[in-house]
Amino acid sequence: MKKNKRINLTLVLPLVIIVISYIYYNFNIKSSSYSPYSEKPFLVEQFQVAENCQSCHPQHYLEWSSSMHAYAFKDPVFFAMNTNEQNYHKDKGEDLGQFCIECHSPVAYTTNLIKNPDKLTFKNSQKLPDQVTEGVGCAFCHAMVHTSDTPNINTKKSLFNVVEYHIDPSNKMYGSISDPLPNNFHESVYNQDFSTSEACLPCHNLLVDGKNAEITFSEWESSKYKSNGFPCQECHMETYEGFAVDPKLFPQAKKRYNLHRHFFAGIDEARTAFPHKDLQRNEIKRLLEQTANLNINDLTLITEQNKIKFEVEVFNRAGHNIPSGATFARELWLDIKVLSANDTIYQTGFVNENNELYDFSIDPNKEIDPDLVIFRSVFYDEKGDSGIYKTSAQRMTKKSDYTISTFESFRKNYIINAPNSSDNDFKIIAKLKFRARSPGFIDHLGLKGQVPYSDTFIVDEKIVEFDSGSQLSMISEE
Ligand code: HEC
Ligand code: HEC
Ligand code: HEC
Ligand code: HEC
Ligand code: HEC
Repeated sequence: MKKNKRINLTLVLPLVIIVISYIYYNFNIKSSSYSPYSEKPFLVEQFQVAENCQSCHPQHYLEWSSSMHAYAFKDPVFFAMNTNEQNYHKDKGEDLGQFCIECHSPVAYTTNLIKNPDKLTFKNSQKLPDQVTEGVGCAFCHAMVHTSDTPNINTKKSLFNVVEYHIDPSNKMYGSISDPLPNNFHESVYNQDFSTSEACLPCHNLLVDGKNAEITFSEWESSKYKSNGFPCQECHMETYEGFAVDPKLFPQAKKRYNLHRHFFAGIDEARTAFPHKDLQRNEIKRLLEQTANLNINDLTLITEQNKIKFEVEVFNRAGHNIPSGATFARELWLDIKVLSANDTIYQTGFVNENNELYDFSIDPNKEIDPDLVIFRSVFYDEKGDSGIYKTSAQRMTKKSDYTISTFESFRKNYIINAPNSSDNDFKIIAKLKFRARSPGFIDHLGLKGQVPYSDTFIVDEKIVEFDSGSQLSMISEE
């Protein structure tokens, strides 16, 4: 009897310590963390709507309202894809839950507001509170108290709702101004994490069963930009000077030299009615100018064989791979044309009458573009199916990566048959083109006519003109 009691104590004591530290830990983080395992979701009312910030922060509001963050839960493509993915998993007897909501409307996710994500449509989403439909809004980002780990979904266990946010939604606004002027609307709290890439991590890095799926943060982390102290904000939230708050309302506010743009430009843009599209378009163009360099190297004329030889090089200057993130949907490709006396003697990267590339998504029995170079990734699912029509990020079991890493070059040699004439003028036109997604994908989602197709941008281009008679004297290079 006595012996038993002693054994019990040695067993119970460590247990008591574990329980106490568990309670202590949870007590401490309860108010500031949300994970699907949180005891209590937050309340929608704890988040301010973005409009409440407009009067005092008109510039921040204007820029954010044109951004993809503001569009994240207004995009018809998003809702169509959510429905597809929900149905796919339902058929398999799985519950995708709030997977698509967790990053696109973090307020809905952390308040557990949408009970049937499988029934979510663009139309019924309109009835949800503004804090939810405004996607990634001001109050959500500015509630961050500390940074998160990379979400890693576990498909075997059907764990799709894994993003953990450490936030304090209240009348405190956290940010990177260390000496904020007080105001009656909110308390201001300095948090240096806002100037780090970790502020973007929870939504811009995603693993599936431990494998890299959408990993913009990791790509940046393993690049020179991290070691040189260039976070995401350096390129996506450029600094400017001005007032953090409307100086007409706050004449005491001081002029600041490191305010941050809130356009968050990438390659994608709103394809429905949306504010300040022209401003967002300008930001995209500015960003794309800094993306990559295209060069035509080692141009050689092999006269005896009537061949032209050259190398095309694409050098990535972005802070992560190009493309990055939703790489399986993006189209970044080489459009190359060689002309001889105005006749096209070679081309690759051309589109058909539907503005579609001759990529794997097109009928393989039709004309193909054997030399097509397209930078993207291709996901394969457990059945080995691939391509954006058949496989999505969370169904991925394998990924082929054809993106270009930071500070790295892609190179390809071209050898082209030239017409048998000694005094021809030749012209090589090489373009690096980029669009958010193919027209076929919009059609595939049943959105033809409802959502305009993505526009194509030219990231960089080079034109070389030369003349075979003068043994390759370059006439012009732009
Ligand atoms: C995706 C997250 C995100 C969203 C959405 C967002 N912000 Fe910010 N904001 C930041 C980050 C990050 C910084 C600090 C950047 C740094 O220091 O490098 C910042 C900085 C600020 C600052 C400090 C001044 C400055 O420009 O640096 C203010 C004020 C601000 N944001 C207001 C707003 C308002 C108002 C909205 C909505 C209209 C908004 N933010 C939306 C992330 C966000
Ligand atoms: C871990 C956070 C996260 C989750 C979960 C997530 N997204 Fe996204 N989504 C993003 C980010 C970040 C981008 C922007 C990436 C880029 O531009 O490359 C994005 C872009 C998109 C886009 C626009 C680009 C495109 O592909 O046309 C759509 C649509 C979209 N997501 C739909 C979905 C759907 C549907 C789901 C659920 C199956 C989902 N997302 C789950 C973070 C997430
Ligand atoms: C009544 C005016 C007013 C309103 C409304 C307002 N702010 Fe502010 N906010 C200020 C002032 C003043 C500052 C300090 C500016 C300065 O010192 O340059 C500030 C600073 C900030 C900062 C920087 C905090 C820091 O220490 O880094 C953030 C972030 C911020 N506001 C976000 C918001 C958001 C988000 C909203 C809407 C939910 C909002 N504000 C609404 C007046 C306001
Ligand atoms: C050195 C500048 C630079 C830095 C640092 C940087 N980016 Fe980018 N980012 C770019 C450029 C240029 C593009 C356009 C090319 C592209 O889309 O890949 C871009 C595009 C993007 C896109 C759209 C990607 C796509 O192809 O759909 C996302 C999302 C993004 N960046 C997020 C981030 C995040 C998150 C970080 C930090 C972890 C970051 N960026 C750091 C320059 C930068
Ligand atoms: C709460 C989640 C969340 C956070 C935090 C977040 N983002 Fe995003 N971001 C998204 C989602 C979702 C999208 C895609 C919206 C869409 O296309 O529908 C996106 C889109 C973008 C894009 C546009 C991509 C394109 O293809 O055009 C850029 C650039 C970007 N984010 C940069 C950042 C940076 C920089 C930070 C950190 C300061 C950040 N984001 C923080 C969720 C987030």
